[in-house]
Amino acid sequence: MLSKIASRSLGAAVRTSSTTSTTRFLSSTPTLFTATEPNSSVSGRESALFTPGPLTTSIGVKQAMQVDLGSRDSKFIDVIQSVRDELLGMARTSQADGHECVLMQGSGTFCVESVISSVIPASGKLLVLSNGAYGERIGQMCKIHKIDHEVISYGERGAPNAADAAAAVLADPSITHVACIHHETTSGALNPAQAIGAAIKEVSERSEQQPKRAAKRSEAKRSKAS
Ligand SMILES: Cc1ncc(COP(=O)(O)O)c(C=O)c1O
Repeated sequence: MLSKIASRSLGAAVRTSSTTSTTRFLSSTPTLFTATEPNSSVSGRESALFTPGPLTTSIGVKQAMQVDLGSRDSKFIDVIQSVRDELLGMARTSQADGHECVLMQGSGTFCVESVISSVIPASGKLLVLSNGAYGERIGQMCKIHKIDHEVISYGERGAPNAADAAAAVLADPSITHVACIHHETTSGALNPAQAIGAAIKEVSERSEQQPKRAAKRSEAKRSKAS
């Protein structure tokens, strides 16, 4: 996660290097920022970046990146472990609950593709709720990796919602996974990921219970008859 932010910031440095600016990133690098308004979230001199993607990093992150740590240094291993544990905690789960968090280093697209191409089993089907370029990109990834999928496209001004997701999962029992971009940064749309997740959990638990209930009913009939 931290590597992604760092590489995106350097990418921005290259893109804006030909314009006038007041602030420099490192003395040897090209000019970074173009606006002159101060930004309190960073050093008080730098400006926030408003290009797609979460690009602006705080002064704390920038300062932390001034220190080199070896990848097998116990300090580095401890920091990575705490990031992994805290991300599991944010998802309200843990290693003890059978979940693991794996940090990926790469562009945003690389990280999304690493999940899409490894999480859906060969027999699975992915429902993609899309309202922008990154949602559409997940559909493309499915095509490339030959993953069975369905895309509900809302267009850039639309928004995925929990009711649609639940109805689609109920209508097609072959759907095993659902993907939705939380923050579609190409348009700035923040999608209701929590409500969508809760609705899918509810319908999938309900449909899982149905065969169990049916099995219980026929078992009860059999024991009554004997
Ligand atoms: C969900 C998502 N996908 C893809 C990207 C694109 O990232 P990149 O240009 O680093 O591949 C971003 C950028 O923020 C993103 O938020």
